[in-house]
Amino acid sequence: MSGINYSDKIPNNVNLANDRTLQRALEHWQPHFLDWWKGMGPTDFQGADVYLRTATSVDADGWASYGAVKMPDYRWGIFLADPVAERKIGFGDQMGQPVWQQVPGEFRSTLRRLIVTQGDTEPASVEQQRLLGHTCPSLYDLRNLFQVNVEEGRHLWAMVYLLHAYFGRDGREEAEELLARHSGDANKPRILTTFNEPISDWLSFYCFTYFTDRDGKYQLKSLAESAFDPLSRTCRFMLTEEAHHMFVGETGIARVVKRTLEVMKELGTEEPAKIRAAGAVDLALLQKYLNFWCSSSLDLFGSEISSNAASSFANGLKGRPDESQYDDHVLREKQLKLDTPQGAQDVPMLNALNEVMRESYLKDCEIGLKRWNRQIERAGFSFRLALPSTRFRRSIGSWVGLPVDPAGKLLPREEFDQRLHEWIPSQEDRAFVRSLMQRVVEPGKMAGWVAPPERGINNLPVDYEYVKLS
Ligand SMILES: [Fe+2]
Ligand SMILES: [Fe+2]
Repeated sequence: MSGINYSDKIPNNVNLANDRTLQRALEHWQPHFLDWWKGMGPTDFQGADVYLRTATSVDADGWASYGAVKMPDYRWGIFLADPVAERKIGFGDQMGQPVWQQVPGEFRSTLRRLIVTQGDTEPASVEQQRLLGHTCPSLYDLRNLFQVNVEEGRHLWAMVYLLHAYFGRDGREEAEELLARHSGDANKPRILTTFNEPISDWLSFYCFTYFTDRDGKYQLKSLAESAFDPLSRTCRFMLTEEAHHMFVGETGIARVVKRTLEVMKELGTEEPAKIRAAGAVDLALLQKYLNFWCSSSLDLFGSEISSNAASSFANGLKGRPDESQYDDHVLREKQLKLDTPQGAQDVPMLNALNEVMRESYLKDCEIGLKRWNRQIERAGFSFRLALPSTRFRRSIGSWVGLPVDPAGKLLPREEFDQRLHEWIPSQEDRAFVRSLMQRVVEPGKMAGWVAPPERGINNLPVDYEYVKLS
């Protein structure tokens, strides 16, 4: 079952050849996807040979092969994790019942919405990042960008497969719409705000892969618990690919910190202006980028109090990430104390699940922060990076629009407005970061604002020619 059939037009492990109607429908969508990739994917690099990994099996070990590929020839396909025999629903009111191989009529529109919302983020991020290749800090980074891009393209395939296979005509229409909306488009934007923010510099790219791809990880983890088994299996395999995206973010930021610390030591200063003059990202500026992308990604979890979250859980559509770590999987009796602007409030746990997810996400975000702070500490500097409060810059939920600083303190509106650019990048900050973005494409060379990685990809040296520009 784990083997992937690469002789089909669309590589897959779902035995597509035996379902001619579905195969034809997906083969009809395939050229639309390729047109989208050529029009909205990375600009000007379609002819380059990129050292990419391609999934070849869904086994945990040895699941991918590596080699030089031109991106439009990448073998995007449909890969589901192996089924778990006798799998039972692991949470909600139908806990213990067999999982579903088909979509129950009463949950059809909710499941379709969940799949479309997830699916929409995948091509959106490719669109957000399409110009980044022009300012790559190294060939190693350029390759990582393209790896992330082709895999987000494959994640789109994963969701489109579900839409085509289980949702009939509406599913096929939704699959077309996934190619028709575009990130930042005034008339037809992507569904979620964060995925309409342009990513025009590599510091944003590292932050995006650290924070926003990690939101993706948590969404996929909760969908991997779903009683709708094909969705669960699809998401479980997507998580394998997703890990690399967060690696790019975490090591990217670590390399920025490393380079900045070198400059600070060389100059013997912590003064931002001097560090900037030396062509590096001062830590206060990095903190602003972390604040921006973390707070923007926190919105993706939705309102703290949500009846949609409650019914998705009770109905078995969407679990908590790593559901098996909890004792109570039904949650009809439990409450959660929530901090609201009106004071502490007891909320039925079922309605507070977005907050539960946001909390576990933040714990995961802390891991990188600890590592980066250790780097700074070891270098002998007192600056510490921190995550912003969940109340900061919220555009959803009970703290929406309130003038709260990154420490979580409610301020007078006027003070907040005046000080906002102490906390998130100003136009000037962004212009400075953009000025650092000079393209470096000599194998092994790095831009001056970022340290080289500790090691290359797949045991190759750092100075390997990961992208052969045509
Ligand atoms: Fe993805
Ligand atoms: Fe991703």
